[in-house]
Amino acid sequence: MPACLYSFRPFLCLPRHDISSLFIPIGRRKPNQTKNLSFSPFSLTNPYTGNPIFQPRTTSLTLSRRPRIANLISGPLSWKMDRLDGPARLMIVSDLDHTMVDHHDPENTSLLRFNALWESLYRHDSLLVFSTGRSPTLYKQLRNEKPMLTPDITITSVGTEITYGDSMVPDQGWVNVLNQKWDRNVVLEETAKLPQLKFQSETEQRPHKVSFYVEKGHAQDVISSLSDRFEKRGLHVKIIYSGGIDLDILPQGAGKGQALAYLLKKFKEGGKPPINTLVCGDSGNDAELFSIPDVYGVMVSNAQEELLQWHAEHAKENTKIIHASNRCAAGIIEAIGHFGLGPNTSPRDSSDILVSKLDNSNPSHEVVKFYITYERWRRAEAEKSDLLIQSLKHICHPTGIAVHPSGVEHSLHECIDTFGPHYGDKQGKQFRVWLDRVFTSQIGSTSWLVKFDKWELTDDGRHCSLTTILLNSEPGNPGAFSLLHVHQTWLEGFAARCQNDWIF
Ligand code: GLC
Ligand code: MG
Repeated sequence: MPACLYSFRPFLCLPRHDISSLFIPIGRRKPNQTKNLSFSPFSLTNPYTGNPIFQPRTTSLTLSRRPRIANLISGPLSWKMDRLDGPARLMIVSDLDHTMVDHHDPENTSLLRFNALWESLYRHDSLLVFSTGRSPTLYKQLRNEKPMLTPDITITSVGTEITYGDSMVPDQGWVNVLNQKWDRNVVLEETAKLPQLKFQSETEQRPHKVSFYVEKGHAQDVISSLSDRFEKRGLHVKIIYSGGIDLDILPQGAGKGQALAYLLKKFKEGGKPPINTLVCGDSGNDAELFSIPDVYGVMVSNAQEELLQWHAEHAKENTKIIHASNRCAAGIIEAIGHFGLGPNTSPRDSSDILVSKLDNSNPSHEVVKFYITYERWRRAEAEKSDLLIQSLKHICHPTGIAVHPSGVEHSLHECIDTFGPHYGDKQGKQFRVWLDRVFTSQIGSTSWLVKFDKWELTDDGRHCSLTTILLNSEPGNPGAFSLLHVHQTWLEGFAARCQNDWIF
């Protein structure tokens, strides 16, 4: 057995000051306030958190902490997809509840598998779109409850609200489209006449969506009675029944399918239609997604009867739609493989993660694997071997430095030494690690910066550090990477209470 599972040692050794000179600090999360800050190259302090912060100085890099989408909306009806150089290789448009998110799996196994796959092999050239019936309020609640990624585009309230980026900048153009021929007051007047309709919570009543609960047995009668009433009032609405309980009333031109069609039209007008689009759903309000021309579709194995029935009646012959044999996000991964849309092996699918190398290995993939190994070590799911510690050390340059989010610096080798005794310290406890928004830039012929949000879910809550890693690859072997510098700073509001518990 080789002493080291990684076959290549780092070959580029930057003295520390050289590494630091790659960065200049900026404020983050409050961009309009950064101009008030004055920094010298080494006063790397975020005035909001007191923590050090970095951004690459090299001007040719595009290493925004956030996907750039939100910044690039240039007007109500136009936005540019400049985060990607070309068309998205794959655009996934997925429902959340019981599709991306499995509420019957407290371990979130398939969601974490999907996350690792997406961040390691798709984030850099593909687009993630969440399309949910939830209002922005309930959507944000779900994001706090589950280990979810940040999508590029979020479509909420059953296709009535489209927003971009993490800051969820609304598409005003879509609002203008929906305002046509919509009169919310008429909806309220007519629905008030039917006692079988029970109002959903206030948060779920939106400008272009009025939502109720209706017992399954009454649904058909209520829907046809409402249709007649709206017709008489001259109002063109769409009535959608989902999950055997929820009834949504939307403008005729709204809905998850119409919102997707609107986005696809924009991409086309911008000259960047996605190469492939995969829609994913489980219930009635997702049906429309599957009728958009040219998209691939997956109904997850646990899809509701109403969606399967819709499919049987309207789309049975469409070979681009499958009913997966796996639940939720595992069904999405299955569909990627079934349709040949790209790699469908998640780094989490491999048990011997450090030795598994992909032909298309890239810095993001290496970093994702590194943190899965970290999680498995602490959960005692990796084999407890000195070899593993040695190989971790081997991929860290001897003079490499890790700046802990508390601001304390250690050599990377010291960090690995500290890490070893933590084997199994999270066994039987809640402990999950996932990376979000992994963005990689090549900054030299053999060096790369990988920036991402590193999350830990523990019994103590969830914590996050904004992380930058400088990696090196060897000429002639571009698939082998070594860590030269790790820099972390707490995401405001998500610092670990026990800072020693956070190792990388
Ligand atoms: C979500 C929304 C709800 C809607 C349902 C079906 O649960 O919160 O308002 O009725 O999706 O679209
Ligand atoms: Mg659903």
